[in-house]
Amino acid sequence: MAIKRVGILTSGGDCAGLNAVIRAVYAHARGHFGWEVVGIHNGTAGLLARPVEATALDDRVLGSDMLRQGGTILGTTNKGDPFAFPQEDGSHVDRSEEVIEGVRQLQLDALIGIGGDGSIAILRRLALQGGINLVAIPKTIDNDLGATEMSIGFETAVQTATAALDHLQPTAASHSRVMVLEVMGRDAGHIALSAGIAGGADVILIPEIPYKFAAIEAKLADLRKSGRNFALVVVAEAVKTESGEAITAVHGGGAKAMHTYGGIGHYIGAELAKRSGAETRVTVLGHVQRGGTPEPKDRVLGSAFGVHAVDLIAAGKYDRMVAWNARQVIDVPILDAIKGAATVDPQGTLVKTARGLGISFGD
Ligand code: F6P
Repeated sequence: MAIKRVGILTSGGDCAGLNAVIRAVYAHARGHFGWEVVGIHNGTAGLLARPVEATALDDRVLGSDMLRQGGTILGTTNKGDPFAFPQEDGSHVDRSEEVIEGVRQLQLDALIGIGGDGSIAILRRLALQGGINLVAIPKTIDNDLGATEMSIGFETAVQTATAALDHLQPTAASHSRVMVLEVMGRDAGHIALSAGIAGGADVILIPEIPYKFAAIEAKLADLRKSGRNFALVVVAEAVKTESGEAITAVHGGGAKAMHTYGGIGHYIGAELAKRSGAETRVTVLGHVQRGGTPEPKDRVLGSAFGVHAVDLIAAGKYDRMVAWNARQVIDVPILDAIKGAATVDPQGTLVKTARGLGISFGD
């Protein structure tokens, strides 16, 4: 089939590097193949709207500074699963056919969906149901998509979390404090682990390794004995209380209420202060990990992913996700990427590295 028109959308939480992908897709699809590239607004929400919310991209994409910009110029959404769309009365309805009809109205020959595991799974379901030629691109600061070593946004989030530790350390040392930093990562501890190593943490708590306060206290006592007057503790947001309860925050109400992780840092900080007597402060880093200027690595990865996604369409290869593996961009069946979350391997290299450095996981 001769390709004339491809669509592109960003779905799920934003992250740094998405605009680099959009730019690369446009540059290669338009510049090399001469295709029209249609930018769909706000993920599947734009496809549900009537008229469909989308604009044909033009050369302004190349002339702009979007390579340097965080967020996504297309807008995105991480709510409103079209297969279970929330209603005002608390019920859910299946609006998938409306989304598919939206794609048909745009007369797309193929669709590039940039998302995390949840969004990509939804897009794949829509593609199978509606006969859409889908190519997926992995993005998530959580870096928990399967079948790729790296997702767009992770490097920038790690950089931000590391910078936070760099900023906390002088205050910790000046005031003889225990500083607790809560970082994002949904159900995976990748950000906490990498930033903790890079930022010189003494304790890293991640959901993949259960902890005990007694072990953290022992680590803090050892530090004190060695003459150290401060400690840095990094906690991934999905870490549970010592007895196993998740700490979450609710945003909004009714069927549209969103539950996210948030608050474990304060629990850990309060418990450590109580148990060890140390002066403790807590920083919850939150969404500053998602925006900001993309790190060069996220720009390079985004560019490589965007170009390869276009090449897949040119080759008629669909139901594939671009991925990073052993210094190369490759492509894999989408199913391989979404069949299970790629969480931290407790026996893996970085956990061993951290242990080798004397960092405690509280286990
Ligand atoms: O998946 C990305 C992520 O930033 C998670 O790390 C975090 O738990 C969640 O999204 C926050 O979602 P929201 O932007 O809806 O608060």
